[in-house]
Amino acid sequence: KELVFSGVQPTGNLHLGNYLGAIKRFVAMQAQFECLYCVVDLHAITVWQDPAELTRQIREVTAAFLAAGIDPARSVVFNQSQVPQHAELAWIFNCVARLGWLNRMTQFKEKAGKDRENASVGLYDYPVLMAADILAYRATHVPVGEDQKQHLELTRDIAQKFNNDFAGAIQEQGHGEAFFPITEPLIGGPAARVMSLRDGTKKMSKSDPSDYSRINLTDDSDAIATKVRKAKTDAEPLPSEIAGLEKRPEADNLVGIFAALNDASREDVLREYGGAQFSAFKGALVDLAVAKLGPIGAEMKRLVADPGHIDAVLADGAARAEAIAAPNIAAVKDIVGFVRRR
Ligand code: AMP
Ligand code: TRP
Repeated sequence: KELVFSGVQPTGNLHLGNYLGAIKRFVAMQAQFECLYCVVDLHAITVWQDPAELTRQIREVTAAFLAAGIDPARSVVFNQSQVPQHAELAWIFNCVARLGWLNRMTQFKEKAGKDRENASVGLYDYPVLMAADILAYRATHVPVGEDQKQHLELTRDIAQKFNNDFAGAIQEQGHGEAFFPITEPLIGGPAARVMSLRDGTKKMSKSDPSDYSRINLTDDSDAIATKVRKAKTDAEPLPSEIAGLEKRPEADNLVGIFAALNDASREDVLREYGGAQFSAFKGALVDLAVAKLGPIGAEMKRLVADPGHIDAVLADGAARAEAIAAPNIAAVKDIVGFVRRR
Protein backbone atom coordinates (compact mmCIF):
# COMPACT_ATOMS: atom_id res chain seq x y z
CA LYS A 1 0.00 0.00 0.00
CA GLU A 2 1.31 3.43 -0.91
CA LEU A 3 1.79 5.83 1.97
CA VAL A 4 3.51 9.22 2.10
CA PHE A 5 5.40 10.44 5.17
CA SER A 6 7.40 13.61 5.65
CA GLY A 7 8.57 15.82 8.47
CA VAL A 8 9.61 19.39 9.14
CA GLN A 9 11.60 20.55 12.16
CA PRO A 10 10.07 23.22 14.40
CA THR A 11 13.26 25.27 14.52
CA GLY A 12 13.63 28.83 13.30
CA ASN A 13 11.82 30.58 10.50
CA LEU A 14 10.11 28.54 7.83
CA HIS A 15 11.34 29.87 4.52
CA LEU A 16 10.77 29.65 0.80
CA GLY A 17 13.06 26.60 0.56
CA ASN A 18 10.95 24.70 3.10
CA TYR A 19 7.82 25.74 1.24
CA LEU A 20 8.89 24.99 -2.33
CA GLY A 21 11.12 22.01 -1.57
CA ALA A 22 8.74 20.36 0.86
CA ILE A 23 5.43 21.81 2.11
CA LYS A 24 4.00 22.84 -1.27
CA ARG A 25 4.72 19.35 -2.55
CA PHE A 26 3.12 17.80 0.55
CA VAL A 27 -0.09 19.60 -0.41
CA ALA A 28 0.00 18.21 -3.94
CA MET A 29 0.56 14.62 -2.78
CA GLN A 30 -2.77 14.57 -0.91
CA ALA A 31 -4.67 14.14 -4.18
CA GLN A 32 -2.89 10.88 -4.92
CA PHE A 33 -1.81 9.31 -1.63
CA GLU A 34 -2.66 8.72 1.99
CA CYS A 35 -0.28 11.14 3.74
CA LEU A 36 1.22 11.72 7.18
CA TYR A 37 2.89 15.06 7.90
CA CYS A 38 4.85 15.35 11.10
CA VAL A 39 6.30 18.23 13.07
CA VAL A 40 9.52 16.56 14.21
CA ASP A 41 10.03 18.02 17.67
CA LEU A 42 12.23 15.11 18.80
CA HIS A 43 14.62 15.99 15.98
CA ALA A 44 14.52 19.66 16.95
CA ILE A 45 16.08 19.05 20.37
CA THR A 46 19.19 17.44 18.87
CA VAL A 47 20.45 21.03 19.13
CA TRP A 48 19.49 23.35 22.01
CA GLN A 49 15.96 24.78 21.86
CA ASP A 50 14.53 27.27 24.29
CA PRO A 51 11.44 25.45 25.70
CA ALA A 52 8.89 28.26 25.29
CA GLU A 53 10.18 29.00 21.80
CA LEU A 54 9.98 25.30 20.87
CA THR A 55 6.32 25.19 21.90
CA ARG A 56 5.65 28.26 19.75
CA GLN A 57 7.50 26.79 16.77
CA ILE A 58 5.65 23.46 16.92
CA ARG A 59 2.37 25.37 16.62
CA GLU A 60 3.78 27.63 13.91
CA VAL A 61 4.91 24.77 11.66
CA THR A 62 1.50 23.14 12.15
CA ALA A 63 -0.11 26.44 11.15
CA ALA A 64 2.10 26.57 8.06
CA PHE A 65 0.99 23.08 7.03
CA LEU A 66 -2.66 24.05 7.35
CA ALA A 67 -2.25 27.49 5.78
CA ALA A 68 -0.44 26.00 2.79
CA GLY A 69 -3.36 23.68 2.12
CA ILE A 70 -2.74 20.44 3.99
CA ASP A 71 -6.20 19.22 4.97
CA PRO A 72 -6.07 17.72 8.47
CA ALA A 73 -9.28 15.80 7.85
CA ARG A 74 -7.69 13.96 4.97
CA SER A 75 -3.98 13.87 5.89
CA VAL A 76 -2.61 13.02 9.33
CA VAL A 77 -1.00 16.15 10.85
CA PHE A 78 0.77 15.61 14.17
CA ASN A 79 3.89 16.20 16.23
CA GLN A 80 6.39 13.42 16.70
CA SER A 81 6.66 13.48 20.52
CA GLN A 82 2.97 12.59 20.90
CA VAL A 83 3.49 9.23 19.22
CA PRO A 84 5.84 7.10 21.35
CA GLN A 85 6.43 4.55 18.57
CA HIS A 86 8.94 6.87 16.85
CA ALA A 87 11.37 6.78 19.78
CA GLU A 88 10.69 3.10 20.41
CA LEU A 89 11.49 2.03 16.87
CA ALA A 90 14.52 4.35 16.82
CA TRP A 91 16.05 2.29 19.64
CA ILE A 92 15.58 -0.96 17.74
CA PHE A 93 17.05 0.68 14.63
CA ASN A 94 20.02 1.89 16.71
CA CYS A 95 20.85 -1.78 17.01
CA VAL A 96 20.44 -2.35 13.25
CA ALA A 97 22.32 0.68 11.89
CA ARG A 98 26.14 0.51 11.90
CA LEU A 99 28.51 3.14 13.25
CA GLY A 100 30.22 3.24 9.87
CA TRP A 101 26.97 4.25 8.18
CA LEU A 102 26.42 7.16 10.57
CA ASN A 103 30.04 8.24 10.30
CA ARG A 104 29.44 8.99 6.62
CA MET A 105 26.54 11.39 7.22
CA THR A 106 27.56 14.79 5.92
CA GLN A 107 24.82 16.72 7.74
CA PHE A 108 26.18 15.63 11.12
CA LYS A 109 29.64 16.86 10.15
CA GLU A 110 28.20 20.22 9.04
CA LYS A 111 25.96 20.68 12.08
CA ALA A 112 28.48 19.46 14.64
CA GLY A 113 31.16 21.74 13.22
CA LYS A 114 34.64 21.80 14.69
CA ASP A 115 33.61 21.10 18.27
CA ARG A 116 32.40 17.56 17.56
CA GLU A 117 33.12 16.30 21.08
CA ASN A 118 30.48 18.69 22.30
CA ALA A 119 27.70 17.69 19.86
CA SER A 120 24.75 15.83 21.39
CA VAL A 121 24.48 12.08 20.93
CA GLY A 122 21.04 12.80 19.49
CA LEU A 123 22.52 14.90 16.69
CA TYR A 124 24.68 11.94 15.68
CA ASP A 125 21.72 9.58 15.89
CA TYR A 126 19.37 11.94 14.05
CA PRO A 127 19.18 9.90 10.82
CA VAL A 128 18.22 6.73 12.72
CA LEU A 129 15.25 8.52 14.30
CA MET A 130 14.33 9.76 10.83
CA ALA A 131 14.31 6.16 9.53
CA ALA A 132 12.05 5.24 12.45
CA ASP A 133 9.67 8.10 11.60
CA ILE A 134 9.23 6.79 8.10
CA LEU A 135 9.24 3.06 8.76
CA ALA A 136 6.96 3.16 11.82
CA TYR A 137 4.26 3.69 9.19
CA ARG A 138 5.97 1.54 6.56
CA ALA A 139 5.77 4.62 4.34
CA THR A 140 6.61 4.05 0.67
CA HIS A 141 7.18 7.63 -0.51
CA VAL A 142 8.94 10.55 1.18
CA PRO A 143 8.86 14.04 -0.39
CA VAL A 144 11.83 16.12 0.80
CA GLY A 145 14.37 18.67 -0.41
CA GLU A 146 17.67 17.59 -1.91
CA ASP A 147 19.53 17.99 1.41
CA GLN A 148 17.75 14.92 2.83
CA LYS A 149 18.90 12.53 0.10
CA GLN A 150 21.66 10.89 2.14
CA HIS A 151 19.37 10.41 5.14
CA LEU A 152 16.83 8.62 2.95
CA GLU A 153 19.53 6.32 1.63
CA LEU A 154 20.29 5.40 5.23
CA THR A 155 16.58 4.70 5.78
CA ARG A 156 16.67 2.30 2.84
CA ASP A 157 19.80 0.63 4.22
CA ILE A 158 18.19 0.15 7.64
CA ALA A 159 15.02 -1.30 6.10
CA GLN A 160 17.07 -3.66 3.96
CA LYS A 161 19.27 -4.83 6.83
CA PHE A 162 16.28 -5.38 9.12
CA ASN A 163 14.52 -7.38 6.40
CA ASN A 164 17.67 -9.50 5.88
CA ASP A 165 18.66 -9.95 9.53
CA PHE A 166 15.18 -11.07 10.51
CA ALA A 167 14.19 -12.79 7.24
CA GLY A 168 13.38 -16.04 9.04
CA ALA A 169 11.04 -14.55 11.62
CA ILE A 170 9.49 -12.25 9.04
CA GLN A 171 8.60 -15.26 6.89
CA GLU A 172 7.41 -17.40 9.80
CA GLN A 173 5.19 -14.67 11.15
CA GLY A 174 3.43 -14.32 7.83
CA HIS A 175 4.85 -11.03 6.55
CA GLY A 176 6.21 -12.53 3.34
CA GLU A 177 9.62 -11.62 1.95
CA ALA A 178 10.11 -8.25 3.61
CA PHE A 179 8.55 -6.38 6.53
CA PHE A 180 9.69 -2.86 5.67
CA PRO A 181 9.29 -1.27 2.23
CA ILE A 182 12.38 0.21 0.56
CA THR A 183 11.19 3.79 0.68
CA GLU A 184 11.23 5.92 -2.46
CA PRO A 185 12.57 9.47 -1.99
CA LEU A 186 10.60 12.09 -3.92
CA ILE A 187 13.14 14.81 -4.58
CA GLY A 188 12.83 17.03 -7.57
CA GLY A 189 11.20 19.88 -9.39
CA PRO A 190 12.74 23.28 -9.95
CA ALA A 191 13.07 23.96 -6.19
CA ALA A 192 14.61 20.79 -4.73
CA ARG A 193 17.44 23.01 -3.52
CA VAL A 194 16.57 26.68 -3.09
CA MET A 195 19.70 28.75 -2.58
CA SER A 196 20.40 31.79 -0.41
CA LEU A 197 19.36 35.11 -1.97
CA ARG A 198 22.74 36.52 -0.93
CA ASP A 199 24.94 33.70 -2.26
CA GLY A 200 23.81 31.33 -5.01
CA THR A 201 26.24 28.65 -3.87
CA LYS A 202 24.78 28.35 -0.34
CA LYS A 203 21.52 26.63 0.55
CA MET A 204 18.70 28.87 1.82
CA SER A 205 18.62 27.97 5.50
CA LYS A 206 16.82 28.73 8.74
CA SER A 207 20.14 29.34 10.45
CA ASP A 208 21.71 31.85 8.04
CA PRO A 209 22.50 34.94 10.15
CA SER A 210 21.33 37.27 7.35
CA ASP A 211 17.55 37.58 7.12
CA TYR A 212 18.07 38.92 3.58
CA SER A 213 19.30 35.45 2.58
CA ARG A 214 15.80 33.99 2.80
CA ILE A 215 12.12 34.79 2.33
CA ASN A 216 10.21 33.69 5.42
CA LEU A 217 6.67 32.37 5.09
CA THR A 218 5.55 35.06 7.52
CA ASP A 219 7.23 37.96 5.64
CA ASP A 220 4.83 40.70 4.57
CA SER A 221 4.76 42.04 1.01
CA ASP A 222 7.20 44.86 1.79
CA ALA A 223 9.74 42.42 3.19
CA ILE A 224 9.33 40.07 0.22
CA ALA A 225 9.78 42.98 -2.21
CA THR A 226 12.88 44.30 -0.44
CA LYS A 227 14.51 40.88 -0.25
CA VAL A 228 13.87 40.03 -3.90
CA ARG A 229 15.12 43.44 -5.06
CA LYS A 230 18.26 43.10 -2.95
CA ALA A 231 18.88 39.51 -4.11
CA LYS A 232 22.33 39.05 -5.58
CA THR A 233 22.47 38.73 -9.38
CA ASP A 234 25.04 39.10 -12.14
CA ALA A 235 24.99 41.84 -14.75
CA GLU A 236 23.79 39.86 -17.78
CA PRO A 237 20.16 39.69 -18.89
CA LEU A 238 18.38 36.33 -18.47
CA PRO A 239 19.33 33.68 -21.05
CA SER A 240 16.77 32.13 -23.39
CA GLU A 241 18.02 28.58 -22.90
CA ILE A 242 18.60 26.46 -19.78
CA ALA A 243 22.26 25.98 -20.75
CA GLY A 244 22.71 29.73 -20.29
CA LEU A 245 22.04 29.34 -16.55
CA GLU A 246 25.14 27.23 -16.05
CA LYS A 247 27.76 28.95 -13.89
CA ARG A 248 25.17 31.61 -13.03
CA PRO A 249 23.96 30.23 -9.67
CA GLU A 250 22.04 33.35 -8.62
CA ALA A 251 20.18 33.60 -11.93
CA ASP A 252 19.48 29.87 -11.87
CA ASN A 253 18.10 30.15 -8.33
CA LEU A 254 15.71 33.03 -9.10
CA VAL A 255 14.47 31.29 -12.25
CA GLY A 256 13.94 28.07 -10.26
CA ILE A 257 12.02 29.94 -7.56
CA PHE A 258 9.83 31.65 -10.15
CA ALA A 259 9.16 28.31 -11.86
CA ALA A 260 8.25 26.49 -8.65
CA LEU A 261 5.98 29.30 -7.40
CA ASN A 262 4.20 29.30 -10.76
CA ASP A 263 3.93 25.48 -11.13
CA ALA A 264 6.06 25.77 -14.25
CA SER A 265 9.50 24.63 -15.42
CA ARG A 266 12.67 26.68 -15.78
CA GLU A 267 12.21 26.33 -19.56
CA ASP A 268 8.75 27.92 -19.34
CA VAL A 269 10.16 30.84 -17.35
CA LEU A 270 13.02 31.43 -19.80
CA ARG A 271 10.62 31.25 -22.73
CA GLU A 272 8.83 34.23 -21.23
CA TYR A 273 11.73 36.15 -19.66
CA GLY A 274 14.74 35.21 -21.81
CA GLY A 275 16.52 38.46 -22.71
CA ALA A 276 14.88 40.40 -19.88
CA GLN A 277 16.95 42.47 -17.45
CA PHE A 278 16.92 41.42 -13.81
CA SER A 279 15.13 44.61 -12.79
CA ALA A 280 12.10 43.59 -14.86
CA PHE A 281 12.29 39.93 -13.91
CA LYS A 282 12.57 40.75 -10.21
CA GLY A 283 9.49 42.96 -10.47
CA ALA A 284 7.52 40.02 -11.86
CA LEU A 285 8.98 37.71 -9.19
CA VAL A 286 7.92 40.10 -6.40
CA ASP A 287 4.36 40.15 -7.74
CA LEU A 288 4.27 36.37 -8.03
CA ALA A 289 5.82 35.73 -4.60
CA VAL A 290 3.49 38.21 -2.89
CA ALA A 291 0.46 36.67 -4.62
CA LYS A 292 1.41 33.12 -3.63
CA LEU A 293 2.94 33.63 -0.18
CA GLY A 294 0.90 36.58 1.11
CA PRO A 295 -2.27 34.54 1.77
CA ILE A 296 -0.26 31.74 3.43
CA GLY A 297 1.50 34.11 5.81
CA ALA A 298 -1.78 35.81 6.68
CA GLU A 299 -3.52 32.49 7.34
CA MET A 300 -0.58 31.33 9.50
CA LYS A 301 -0.92 34.43 11.65
CA ARG A 302 -4.66 33.85 11.98
CA LEU A 303 -4.15 30.19 12.96
CA VAL A 304 -1.39 30.73 15.55
CA ALA A 305 -3.66 33.18 17.34
CA ASP A 306 -5.82 30.16 18.28
CA PRO A 307 -3.43 27.62 19.83
CA GLY A 308 -6.38 25.63 21.16
CA HIS A 309 -7.43 24.79 17.63
CA ILE A 310 -3.88 23.86 16.57
CA ASP A 311 -3.45 21.63 19.61
CA ALA A 312 -6.72 19.87 18.84
CA VAL A 313 -5.55 19.20 15.27
CA LEU A 314 -2.28 17.76 16.63
CA ALA A 315 -4.05 15.57 19.20
CA ASP A 316 -6.41 14.16 16.58
CA GLY A 317 -3.49 13.55 14.20
CA ALA A 318 -1.43 11.85 16.90
CA ALA A 319 -4.25 9.43 17.71
CA ARG A 320 -4.63 8.52 14.02
CA ALA A 321 -0.86 8.21 13.56
CA GLU A 322 -0.54 5.96 16.59
CA ALA A 323 -3.33 3.74 15.28
CA ILE A 324 -1.18 3.06 12.20
CA ALA A 325 2.19 2.81 13.97
CA ALA A 326 1.20 0.71 17.01
CA PRO A 327 0.41 -2.54 15.15
CA ASN A 328 3.58 -2.11 13.07
CA ILE A 329 5.74 -1.74 16.16
CA ALA A 330 4.00 -4.67 17.85
CA ALA A 331 4.88 -6.78 14.79
CA VAL A 332 8.49 -5.54 14.94
CA LYS A 333 8.72 -6.62 18.59
CA ASP A 334 7.47 -10.08 17.68
CA ILE A 335 9.92 -10.27 14.77
CA VAL A 336 12.84 -9.27 16.99
CA GLY A 337 11.75 -11.84 19.59
CA PHE A 338 10.63 -9.66 22.48
CA VAL A 339 7.89 -10.94 24.79
CA ARG A 340 4.94 -8.57 24.57
CA ARG A 341 2.20 -7.83 27.08
CA ARG A 342 -1.00 -9.25 25.57
P1 AMP B 1 13.95 21.30 7.92
O1 AMP B 1 13.65 22.70 8.15
O2 AMP B 1 15.40 21.00 7.94
O3 AMP B 1 13.15 20.38 8.77
O4 AMP B 1 13.48 21.01 6.44
C1 AMP B 1 12.14 20.75 6.10
C2 AMP B 1 12.03 20.37 4.64
O5 AMP B 1 12.43 21.47 3.82
C3 AMP B 1 12.94 19.19 4.23
O6 AMP B 1 12.24 18.38 3.30
C4 AMP B 1 14.10 19.88 3.57
O7 AMP B 1 14.74 19.05 2.63
C5 AMP B 1 13.42 21.04 2.91
N1 AMP B 1 14.35 22.16 2.68
C6 AMP B 1 15.06 22.83 3.64
N2 AMP B 1 15.82 23.80 3.08
C7 AMP B 1 15.60 23.73 1.74
C8 AMP B 1 16.07 24.46 0.62
N3 AMP B 1 16.95 25.46 0.76
N4 AMP B 1 15.64 24.11 -0.61
C9 AMP B 1 14.75 23.09 -0.77
N5 AMP B 1 14.25 22.37 0.24
C10 AMP B 1 14.65 22.67 1.48
N1 TRP C 1 15.47 15.57 8.61
C1 TRP C 1 14.39 16.28 8.00
C2 TRP C 1 14.84 17.73 7.76
O1 TRP C 1 15.65 18.27 8.45
C3 TRP C 1 13.16 16.28 8.85
C4 TRP C 1 12.63 14.89 9.02
C5 TRP C 1 12.63 14.17 10.18
C6 TRP C 1 12.02 14.08 8.02
N2 TRP C 1 12.05 12.95 9.95
C7 TRP C 1 11.68 12.87 8.67
C8 TRP C 1 11.77 14.26 6.67
C9 TRP C 1 11.10 11.81 7.96
C10 TRP C 1 11.16 13.21 5.98
C11 TRP C 1 10.84 12.01 6.62
O2 TRP C 1 14.37 18.34 6.89
